[in-house]
Amino acid sequence: SVLIVDFGSQVTQLIARRVREAGVYCEIVPFQSAEEGLKRLRPKAVILSGSPASVLDEKAPGVPKTLWDAGLPVLGICYGQQVMCSALGGHIEGGLDREFGRAFIEIERSSPLFDGIWAEGTRHQVWMSHGDRVTQIPEGFAVIATSPGAPFAAIADERRRLYAVQFHPEVVHTPDGGRLLANFVHRIAGLSGSWTMAAFREQAIADIRAKVGSGRVICGLSGGVDSAVAAVLIHEAIGDQLTCIFVDHGLLRQNEAEQVVELFRGSYNIPLVHVQAEDLFVDALTGESDPEVKRKTIGRLFIETFEAEAKKIGGADFLAQGTLYPDVIESVSFTGGPSVTIKSHHNVGGLPERMNMRLVEPLRELFKDEVRALGRELGLPEAFVGRHPFPGPGLAIRCPGGVTRDKLHILRQADAIYLDEIRKAGLYDAIWQAFAVLLPVQTVGVMGDGRTYEFVCALRAVTSVDGMTADFYHYDMDFLGRTATRIINEVRGINRVVYDITSKPPGTIEWE
Ligand code: XMP
Repeated sequence: SVLIVDFGSQVTQLIARRVREAGVYCEIVPFQSAEEGLKRLRPKAVILSGSPASVLDEKAPGVPKTLWDAGLPVLGICYGQQVMCSALGGHIEGGLDREFGRAFIEIERSSPLFDGIWAEGTRHQVWMSHGDRVTQIPEGFAVIATSPGAPFAAIADERRRLYAVQFHPEVVHTPDGGRLLANFVHRIAGLSGSWTMAAFREQAIADIRAKVGSGRVICGLSGGVDSAVAAVLIHEAIGDQLTCIFVDHGLLRQNEAEQVVELFRGSYNIPLVHVQAEDLFVDALTGESDPEVKRKTIGRLFIETFEAEAKKIGGADFLAQGTLYPDVIESVSFTGGPSVTIKSHHNVGGLPERMNMRLVEPLRELFKDEVRALGRELGLPEAFVGRHPFPGPGLAIRCPGGVTRDKLHILRQADAIYLDEIRKAGLYDAIWQAFAVLLPVQTVGVMGDGRTYEFVCALRAVTSVDGMTADFYHYDMDFLGRTATRIINEVRGINRVVYDITSKPPGTIEWE
């Protein structure tokens, strides 16, 4: 495996994804835990991430000395390059021109790092983002690539297998960056690239069996991909020792609840308790318009309902959850103070503590796209596995203001038409998330000979890599016109459609 030491870069997770795409297992640890990570994981290679920090600061984060004595191949990226150079006797300077964005590097000499991608004497696009830079490299190192702003764009001590780049190979703006990282883990560290979803599935099943033994497991289904994949995997491991509880809050999209029940009972034969709790949730939400109170109400009711059902079943030893790796990674923060909560996304945060059960979290090591790959591996239908992300509080946060059955009914129809048009136009996979929002605003319209006074529907579609930042999707106007006409013609209660052209930041993806 590979250990990635995180110094707080925004894009550290992308390093991990690229390494895993190369079929090599890796974990991220905050720099403070690097020593512990080395002992626990016994990695075959180490990658040092970028950082908003400066190595010139007195309290600059670094790595333990033991790393340099371990004889492991190390790749330093950006700040990681500076950490490597300052630890091994090079020199860093700040206050020079900052280099930010697209840059071109020139390959000075061939290196295993560039094998099969970049030949000596050629020029290539990379992504730079740094203030400080290396001005003198440590002994034993040679320059393997340069750029106008960074004479030490890439350096190597091939004998000790130490490599460092000033640019960011992990981001898409460095087009060959994934292959560079693959070279590092395959050719330099000698790792085989056999970490596939098929291998993960086998291992996960063995782990679940070993952990659970003859115990009983309950698993909450949300209707989303993560909990479904977790449940199918656990069922494959322990069969009917698993019972799933699907708390149907009535806030899912059109036909989704039925699809989940059909998939689990029909296709997989997994024991499933379907709790139809729409009345409970909608009644509690009617008249409540504060987004955070809405989220908290849904979270609380979910936990209470789930708990009551689990009691009825009785005798379960384990609680299964579809926790993903991004929820587990400890983040490195340099801001000091507490960060501001924009939205409380932790829908059912308190569940494990309250239930006082042992946890089974078979997806803890996976990124979202890996969970999708595992879902495919387990035979889940593509239309289910490839679905856009959907928030835990569901349509409740897409009905700004109070939620009513009527509004949910209207919103569901508009949303279904919108998604249908997107699929027909072949755009579904190009978009990160698309949905309709039913605004609590009525406007005047004219249909036939009559005056109408009905709700406004907003359409939203964004592209994003991780949901942290997003750009609105640039549809052509014909698509929007066609979709708006269909919604207004087919959905009673909507007489106007608008398109949201806000990016994130400053907007958020959802409206609440
Ligand atoms: P925002 O609106 O914060 O959304 O830009 C970023 C991503 O998170 C989803 N989202 C939620 N997911 N519970 C969830 O499980 C929530 O309360 C919640 N609010 C937003 C949103 O759909 C997008 O994918």
